[in-house]
Amino acid sequence: MTVESADRAADAARYEVISGGYDAALFAAAAIPPAGRVLDIGCGYGATSRRAARLAARGSVLGNDISEPLLAQARAFADDEGLGNVAFEAGDAQTHPFPGGEFDVAISRFGMMFFRDPVAAFGNVHRALKAGGRLVFTTVGPPGGNDLPGIVAAAMPPAMADAPPSDVHSLSRPDRIATVLGAAGFAGVRSEPVETSIVLGPDAEAAASFVLAWSAFGGALDEAATGRARAALADAARPFETPGGVRLRGTAWLVTAV
Ligand SMILES: C[S@@+](CC[C@H](N)C(=O)[O-])C[C@H]1O[C@@H](n2cnc3c(N)ncnc32)[C@H](O)[C@@H]1O
Repeated sequence: MTVESADRAADAARYEVISGGYDAALFAAAAIPPAGRVLDIGCGYGATSRRAARLAARGSVLGNDISEPLLAQARAFADDEGLGNVAFEAGDAQTHPFPGGEFDVAISRFGMMFFRDPVAAFGNVHRALKAGGRLVFTTVGPPGGNDLPGIVAAAMPPAMADAPPSDVHSLSRPDRIATVLGAAGFAGVRSEPVETSIVLGPDAEAAASFVLAWSAFGGALDEAATGRARAALADAARPFETPGGVRLRGTAWLVTAV
């Protein structure tokens, strides 16, 4: 992440535009009990951790992320809301020493796709769950079902375009999800498709500004490169303009396991 802290609240709002449409499915499946202990992996700015904390009013939530600056903002949001039952702890989910046998439910909204060693990561989460504990997360669906990566790719400067494909699709196939989770100790693995609409802005120019400002785009371009990227983004977004704004299709897998 390359944004300054003053911009983090705005960046968090961008994540809600991109990912908030999946929350209803995620939280329906998570069925967080009022006294539950919840672990939120790769929680970023902590929107799902805070929602889980409101649901687990007599329980508590631990939000995990590898990025301390994101967690600092997550803590600030939780403080602003007066939430006393959510804590945030920095660590790599692949190796972080979560308390063993502690959590009723582990959730994640798109925080489980970036592991070098996914079996180790899911095994670590498995160890943190109580016997019979549940895992519920969303992971990005196949490239063809998601318009956003194509728009972003259209604007990549050449050096970025040559970079290896992002890990974002590393868990995009249900057979691979089942294999990885099975190897990590989970049973009853199910992947169900979830679809949403992402509105990036009122028109293609606004959509281009949105992507350029979004920290996940990769940040710091010089002025000339920014101008080229802005034009390419607007061109790529234009086919998605509707009377209701630049509307993109987003698809994900909702994964549940025990
Ligand atoms: C796409 S963002 C999702 C953030 C948040 N869950 C949300 O929906 O807004 C992915 C998050 O995973 C975190 N992450 C990546 N690798 C991680 C790891 N090994 N352990 C913990 N968190 C990780 C990133 O820092 C980032 O905040």
